[in-house]
Amino acid sequence: MNIIDVIKTRKSCRTFNSIFLSQEDKAELESFILKNSKGLDNEIIDFSIIENKDASSELKINYGMIQGHKTFVLGTSKSTPNSRVNYGYLMEKLVLKATEMNIASCWIGVFDQTYFKEIIPEKGFEIPSILIIGYADKQSAGERLVRFAIKAHKRNDWETLFFDYQTKLPLSPDQLPKYSDSLEMLRLGPSAGNSQPWRVFFDETTNEFHFFKNPVNKKYDVMGLHEIDMGIAVAHFELTSNSKGLKGVWDKYENIQSSEDLQYIMSWRCIN
Ligand SMILES: Cc1cc2nc3c(=O)[nH]c(=O)nc-3n(C[C@H](O)[C@H](O)[C@H](O)COP(=O)(O)O)c2cc1C
Repeated sequence: MNIIDVIKTRKSCRTFNSIFLSQEDKAELESFILKNSKGLDNEIIDFSIIENKDASSELKINYGMIQGHKTFVLGTSKSTPNSRVNYGYLMEKLVLKATEMNIASCWIGVFDQTYFKEIIPEKGFEIPSILIIGYADKQSAGERLVRFAIKAHKRNDWETLFFDYQTKLPLSPDQLPKYSDSLEMLRLGPSAGNSQPWRVFFDETTNEFHFFKNPVNKKYDVMGLHEIDMGIAVAHFELTSNSKGLKGVWDKYENIQSSEDLQYIMSWRCIN
């Protein structure tokens, strides 16, 4: 499957069949984690696959709306915006690898932080989100309800998300033929509560894309979840661009201003 098909196939799963990953699948994901632990700025984030073998201590999520979940992936980030972006970036690469292997997943931002005895963050670190992975079962009524309530299949239009940096006018796919798939695949990404805080501005004069976070949901923003969302967007953009032979480098510029509604995260400088 190419990355575009993988991104289009992925959707959050909230009904798992309670079966642990096969040894082969677990080994393949563990090997992927080892090879993909270096993120932006060369920061290393180590993820672990944790299986709950104790049926009496289930992690309750979404008031019990998630079912059959036995296997989690998590690690720690520094308690800083950049490190959370990195956590989202690296974990989403794993989500897409799992999707390709027919393994279902769901990002979880709201959970009991004390549940995982194996991973206790040091001072200045946190578990900013976790991932449930496993094999999907038939959607439960609860799952259908959650998906309906957050309009999980919908995304904002291009005109809400992508702009020209100089004129501030919305961009359409035909204005950016080379990068239209990269932005479209970013648009299809998952985000906390489907809040889609990504805003991207293209500067034709410098050939750069500037990524900003619009803190659309104050509660998620305080929890750092929008920074995870930004990391996911960065991963989708980069993987799609690379798959089309488009190269670039990530950088963070001192001279780019943030405002309350548009907080600067980083930029992609096109190099071909
Ligand atoms: C950082 C993050 C946190 C999330 N937290 C939760 C959560 O706590 N509970 C939940 O059911 N879904 C959670 N989700 C899944 C989103 O609701 C889901 O990605 C979004 O509604 C879009 O649906 P889709 O993933 O099926 O495309 C989270 C997603 C992200 C990216």
